[in-house]
This record gives sequence, structure tokens and C-alpha cells, in this order.
Amino acid sequence: MVRRIRQFYKALFARLNKSDYTFLSDYLTKTELEVFMTLPVFDRKHSVDIARHLHHQGAQLELVRAGLLHDIGKARCPELTIVKRSICVLLEALFPKHARNKATSKKGKLGRALYVHQNHPEIGAEVLEILGCTDERIIWLVRHHADKEAAKTDDELAAFMVIDDRM
Ligand SMILES: [Fe+2]
Ligand SMILES: [Fe+2]
Repeated sequence: MVRRIRQFYKALFARLNKSDYTFLSDYLTKTELEVFMTLPVFDRKHSVDIARHLHHQGAQLELVRAGLLHDIGKARCPELTIVKRSICVLLEALFPKHARNKATSKKGKLGRALYVHQNHPEIGAEVLEILGCTDERIIWLVRHHADKEAAKTDDELAAFMVIDDRM
């Protein structure tokens, strides 16, 4: 919970600077960047922070790109604001069954927000395919970036999930 509060506080003040934009255009194609820019600023900053961290660790190009693109599925729901995001997290933690049913129904703004929140890895992988990304590894990492089962057999994914959770 402390981590969540810290993330909420960080998100409130998220800003991208000039060097973040240079970094983004170094790693993303023009169309990927266009979609990336439709994400709320706190998602953009979160993704840039992860990708920079990976870059400094000397990660391969595909992993850095996956860091930038892993939450791109959230672009399908621009109304997923920081407040709505927090409501989703709380509902999922306190009433998981209700949150799941509501997400499956996709009814109303909250149903739609929960659906995208819970399914953004799969949605993100589809978005990348539509954008013409042909790198199977990036698409796989995006699709499974919240998949604890997949992380058991893929050390790179497991390490990625730790960084994602921390940033
Ligand atoms: Fe995510
Ligand atoms: Fe993330």
C-alpha cells in the first residue's frame, strides 16, 4: 500500500523533459511515438523511467523498446485518469470478484476502465501488431508483462516485472 501511495504521488507530478523526448524518438518509430503520446503523462514517464533504467543496465534494444511500449494498451482508454486508475486498483484489491465481473461486462465508464486496466497487456500486444511491429520478442514481453506464470520460466520477464513494479 505504501508503494501504491508513493506511485500515486509520483504520478501527480510526472513530467517529461527534453532528453526524455530525445530518448523516445531514438527508440520508437514515428507511429509508435504518435500512439505513445496519447498515453497520460504519468504512464509516459513511468515507461521512460523503466526504459532508461534498462538502457543504463546495458539491456538489448528489444528490451528497452519493450520497456517503453509495455503499457501502450492503456492508450485504448485515455479516460483512465490517475483517479480512475486508483479506483481500479482499490476495487481489484478489495472486491476482486466484483471488479472482474464489471470488467468482463465492459459496461459504463468504470466497466470499460476496469477492462482496459486488467487487459492492457493483451490490448497492447494487439496495438503493436496493428502498428506494424514485427519483433515477436517485444510483442511477447508486452503481452506477458503482468503474467506471473510466464515469469516463472523467463528470467528476463521476471526481472522486467520487478522493475515495472518499482517504477
Ligand atoms: Fe502494465
Ligand atoms: Fe508498467
